Amino acid sequence: MKILGVRFGHDSAAALIVDGEIVADVAEERFTRCKNDTTFPLKAIKYCLQAGGISSENIDVLAIPTTSFQPEFGVFFDIPENIKPSEKSRLKLSVKTFFRSKPNLPILPRYQKPMKLSPHCRIELIDHHLAHVASAAYTSGIDTSIKVLGVTIDGIGDRTSAAVWRIQNNQIENLARFGGDSSLGWFYANATEAMGWRHGSEEWKVMGLAPYGKPKPGLLKGYYPEFEDGVLVRPHNYGDFGRWHDHGANHYHGKDAEPMANICESVGIEDFAAEVQRVSEEQAFKIILPWLEKEQTRHLVCAGGFFMNVKFNQNLWYSGRLDTQWVYPNPGDAGLAVGTALYVHYQNNSMLQHKQLDNLYFGPEFSNDEIRVILNDRGIDHKYYENIEEITARYLARNLVVGWFQGRMEAGPRALGNRSILMSPLDPANKDLINAKVKYREKFRPFCPSIAAEAYDAYLRGAREELFMVSSFEVNEGMQNRIPAVVHKDNTARPQKVYPHINQRYHRLITEFGKISGEAILLNTSFNIKGEPIVCNPREAIKCFYDTGIDVLVIGNYLVKKSNIDE
Ligand SMILES: [Fe+2]
Repeated sequence: MKILGVRFGHDSAAALIVDGEIVADVAEERFTRCKNDTTFPLKAIKYCLQAGGISSENIDVLAIPTTSFQPEFGVFFDIPENIKPSEKSRLKLSVKTFFRSKPNLPILPRYQKPMKLSPHCRIELIDHHLAHVASAAYTSGIDTSIKVLGVTIDGIGDRTSAAVWRIQNNQIENLARFGGDSSLGWFYANATEAMGWRHGSEEWKVMGLAPYGKPKPGLLKGYYPEFEDGVLVRPHNYGDFGRWHDHGANHYHGKDAEPMANICESVGIEDFAAEVQRVSEEQAFKIILPWLEKEQTRHLVCAGGFFMNVKFNQNLWYSGRLDTQWVYPNPGDAGLAVGTALYVHYQNNSMLQHKQLDNLYFGPEFSNDEIRVILNDRGIDHKYYENIEEITARYLARNLVVGWFQGRMEAGPRALGNRSILMSPLDPANKDLINAKVKYREKFRPFCPSIAAEAYDAYLRGAREELFMVSSFEVNEGMQNRIPAVVHKDNTARPQKVYPHINQRYHRLITEFGKISGEAILLNTSFNIKGEPIVCNPREAIKCFYDTGIDVLVIGNYLVKKSNIDE
């Protein structure tokens, strides 16, 4: 069965699942180059269909992760008159009427033909948080007979800001649901805005800054909802949010941001960030821990933008309350495209054991032949190396900055060794160096390590298996000085464990670096500059290379270096 999941909204995305396998998954921003792109994901859909070798008429199910009215689907898809709404969907009208019943819809130009659907195609509308939890539940690899707790937390989606779920035998049952007055995502976002950053996309800056300050309990009371024993005890009225459309994406303004900004000014930005982080962890713990108790389980799966908070994920793991912790590695709304498609698949195949997701390489790829043509057309000097990993490792050991472009692009917020900027983690100055001459971003931002699987445990204390950088862990004391560029202020690191069977070329590179330096670990940051999406194609990689202080570009088996870099 071919299921196309389409997320249309903040972080628009599309994913194609064929017989339960994720064939493609990509956010629209990677093609349009607008971070958090909010437009209809036409390019992402086109890529998914192309990757699956199918046309829109071959789709069996179009899965949409919202129960809200999105008539744009009736504009961009040519929906047959006689198409039947699915039994589970809430459509009362004929689908065609439903999708065309809103005035002022975009009118397509001649060259933008609506995508045809087969009369046999089903359209499924899946609740936003159900799609979030499905993304985590059906990729965790946990035996389906085991009872698992699912928790989803975000700003808001389908009038829900957090929900608690029981997952067993591929069935997902809702246990609790909280509305807008319970939103921890909005609290964090308001704090982000108060600090001068973008609500809905720059929350990670608050988290990065938090270890530099000291929490001040009580400071932000009255600005967040309070929970006890898994239940909301004090709602918070966030009021209406203003919408600010900026560079292709929606951003928001909350009424609390102004008074919170005054508080921030009075205590200093570091202590403010520390308190925001403390409050968020405290309240999320008060949702999750009691429900683990009530459900008598030690297995937890999570999704929703809140779980991008790697410090919270870390503390949850170190709480000792879990045997299994799985955060879907694309936990924000771009991950809904996969979630909604997986939900439809497993509703139709409830007896199947799902596999554990071990990679997110679901985007476009480019062959050496394609890369060579692009380099030649631009007259860029390049060299082909069969042993590109060994050669690149030598440049890294010389403490140079390498742009590393290989294979299929990663879905999700993290570069995982296919669209990465890499450097040695051995020199403490490298963090400032990359921030200043490549990423053009704030000094306090930490960088993360990719570690060869064999060396993983030596660097980290009590870490669980982490393939996707969705949690940080403490760095072993003896190791902190050996890899200072990837150790954060609080002596933690947010790792990617790299296995040869998952990413052979990247593993080989790290291993080669280890042979020279003694440390099988690299500083890995996403291949982009601040405020831009991760590069998708070779042209964008070349642009980023020449627009920044990257010393060496490795693209497929080709190596390009700046003129001031010796052989
Ligand atoms: Fe969400």
